[in-house]
Amino acid sequence: MLIWIVGSNGFVGSLLSDAMRKRRIPFVETTRRDVDITKRGQIENFFSRFPISHFINCAGYTNVELAEKQQDEAYDINVKGTLNLGSVAKKHGAKILHLSTDYVFDGAKQTPYLETDICNPLSIYGKTKFEGEKQLLKIEPSASILRTSWLFGKGGKTFISSIFNEMKKCEIVSVLEDQVSKPTYSMDLIEAILKLIESSPSGIFHFANQEQCSRFEVALEIKKLAKKYEIEILCKEIKPILTKELNLSAIRPKYSALDTEKIASYCKIKLRNWKEGLEEYIRNEKTI
Ligand SMILES: NC(=O)c1ccc[n+]([C@@H]2O[C@H](COP(=O)([O-])OP(=O)(O)OC[C@H]3O[C@@H](n4cnc5c(N)ncnc54)[C@H](OP(=O)(O)O)[C@@H]3O)[C@@H](O)[C@H]2O)c1
Repeated sequence: MLIWIVGSNGFVGSLLSDAMRKRRIPFVETTRRDVDITKRGQIENFFSRFPISHFINCAGYTNVELAEKQQDEAYDINVKGTLNLGSVAKKHGAKILHLSTDYVFDGAKQTPYLETDICNPLSIYGKTKFEGEKQLLKIEPSASILRTSWLFGKGGKTFISSIFNEMKKCEIVSVLEDQVSKPTYSMDLIEAILKLIESSPSGIFHFANQEQCSRFEVALEIKKLAKKYEIEILCKEIKPILTKELNLSAIRPKYSALDTEKIASYCKIKLRNWKEGLEEYIRNEKTI
C-alpha cells in the first residue's frame, strides 16, 4: 500500500501527512507546486514514478466567499481537478478518497443530513464541490467521498480560530446565531480518514463530531474554555448576530448538520462530542 496525499500543504493535507509520518504509513505527497490537479499530464507524470495504490485528495478550492467571484477557478479545481484525479486512479486501478463538504446541502432540513439526502448547494463553492462529487462517482463508482463540516484545529484558518483570535483582541465579539451545524475537530477527521482508507469503501460518508450547535454556541464554549485554561482574552461580551447583517456574497446553509451513523458503524468508531475536541484544541493552544 502506498498512499498519495494530494494537496499536502493545506490544513487537512498537512495534518494527514504528519499523522502518516508518525505512524510510518508509506506515503508520497504533493503540493500544488509539485502537481497541479487541473493538469492531467502532471498527475500521470507523478503517478508513473511511484507504485501508488491509494489517492487521498485534500486539494481543493476552499475560499467560500472568493469562489463567488472566481467561479472558473473554483470549477477547474473542484470539478476538473477531482475528475482528473479520479480518471487517473481508475485507469491504473488505484483507490481514491476525496474530501467534500456539508455545503452541498441547502439547509432546508431540520434533522441531520444523511448521505442519501438530496443535495442542493447554494454557493459556487458548494455547487463545484457537488459537481466534483458527481463526476468523480460517475467516472469511478468505487471512489470514497468523505463529507465533513465546520473543521477546526491546529494550523487551520477556521471560523473557530477567527473567533478565538478576535476574543484575544476585542471586548465585544459578534458571532452568527442563525447557522447551525456540527463542528469537526481536525484530529478526529484524520483518524476517520485513516480508518476509511484501510478498506476504501465505495460511496459517500459523513464525518463530524457529535451534537449540533450554532456558531454563537461555539463562541460561548471558547470563552468558557479560555477561562478554564487561563488564556488571556479581552472579550467581555459575545453578541449574537444574523447572517443577513454581514452582507456576505456566498449563501451558506442555515442548517447543515451531518448524520454520522454510517461511518460510525462502518468503521466501528465512537465519535466524540465537538466540545471534547474543542477542549483538546484549546488546551494544546495553551501549551504552544
Ligand atoms: N476547512 C473546512 O472547514 C472544510 C469543511 C468541509 C469540507 N472541507 C473540505 O476538505 C478539503 C480540505 O480542506 P482544507 O481546509 O484542508 O483546505 P485548504 O487548507 O484550503 O487546502 C487546500 C489545498 O488545495 C491546494 N490546491 C488548490 N488548488 C490546487 C491545484 N490546482 N492543484 C493542487 N493543489 C491545489 C491548495 O494549495 P495552495 O495553498 O498552494 O493553493 C491547498 O494546499 C477540501 O476538499 C474542502 O472542501 C473543508
